[in-house]
Amino acid sequence: MNTISEKNIMKLIEVGIRAPSADNGQPWKFKLLDDGFELWLDQDNMGLFFDVNQVATQMSCGALIENVTLLADAMGFATSISYFNEASGKFAQLAFASVGDRGDVESVTRTIFNRYTDRNLFQFHKKISNSQMAELVSLVQSDRNYRLHTYQTPQDRKAIIRTITATDTIRFIHKRIHNDFYHVLRFGDTAQKNRDGLAAATLGIESFMIPVLRMLKPWWLTKLLNYIGLHHVMALRGTWLPMRSAPVIVSITHKGGADYVEFGRIMQRFWLQANEAGLSVQPLGALPLFLARCHLLQGEGFTSDQLKMLKAVTDDFARITPLFNKEADQIVMLFRLGYAKKNKPRAFRRDVESFLRD
Ligand SMILES: Cc1cc2nc3c(=O)[nH]c(=O)nc-3n(C[C@H](O)[C@H](O)[C@H](O)COP(=O)(O)O)c2cc1C
Repeated sequence: MNTISEKNIMKLIEVGIRAPSADNGQPWKFKLLDDGFELWLDQDNMGLFFDVNQVATQMSCGALIENVTLLADAMGFATSISYFNEASGKFAQLAFASVGDRGDVESVTRTIFNRYTDRNLFQFHKKISNSQMAELVSLVQSDRNYRLHTYQTPQDRKAIIRTITATDTIRFIHKRIHNDFYHVLRFGDTAQKNRDGLAAATLGIESFMIPVLRMLKPWWLTKLLNYIGLHHVMALRGTWLPMRSAPVIVSITHKGGADYVEFGRIMQRFWLQANEAGLSVQPLGALPLFLARCHLLQGEGFTSDQLKMLKAVTDDFARITPLFNKEADQIVMLFRLGYAKKNKPRAFRRDVESFLRD
């Protein structure tokens, strides 16, 4: 028989929703069809400051599609994809046709379920082998428009950490980003109940910091404390220290403007391979997504000082990233990689039925 059963379509959706999404918004809906499903965007769970023109959502959709096609392939189905990206929210349609050969369904499913974001401190002295790094580089650069760059010398490493920390400092002095963060942040049992957003326990901070984070929710208080340098303390603990603990920091750039869905697929393959090799991964979305905002919305939402700071960090980035043309090329993502000290709680996912629409 050439068709796919509803049970198998549901299995594909179940691995699809394991994809990463900005702030764990899980901005997807699915409409079941006889031979596959339509992928719709859930407008209620997207569009925050970092999701400029749905760039982050498109990356998530790419990652979701990658999960689905990997499992479909292992189940013996070829996937055909049509993209719509309509204002109504219809994003794509995936249809599956049996091609016979089955792969290792269990192993693919396990790999997809094991992928996760690790915000904990890494073991700096536990180095990543050259062969492992070479495999990740060749995966990303198999499309020759992408470049994976690692920062090798102590000076370049220091410079990329300074660049990322300076960018992240903007997070803590920006009212909209602050309010968006508290909109998705989930404390205690709420995370388990809602099964979306950022559970405080997954932030990789010490447990005594969690009540402090809770206390800082009113913007006026954070703003007041920023006058005595709170934003620097937050960037130091939230960004600089985790960066310092990572043996490797990488950037992925694209020659010219990138297609975000396509990049989401590459990002997911990179992430799956890294986690499968035992590496912990944290994406660092602020710099690419801030720059996307500068490019797509002419910097709307930033003050002139913040725009100046972003220009300076882009110059720094270009200086330490060979072959990166800051006028034409795009930074699509940065990651820190390493070995985590211990396993910590992982992000929740909503039940698969909650994603279905008529
Ligand atoms: C486009 C994009 C940007 C992201 N940026 C960040 C980031 O800057 N920092 C971070 O810790 N996680 C970031 N994440 C990871 C998400 O928060 C994470 O995927 C989500 O919370 C679900 O958790 P999981 O990846 O463990 O399944 C990003 C994910 C995507 C898709």
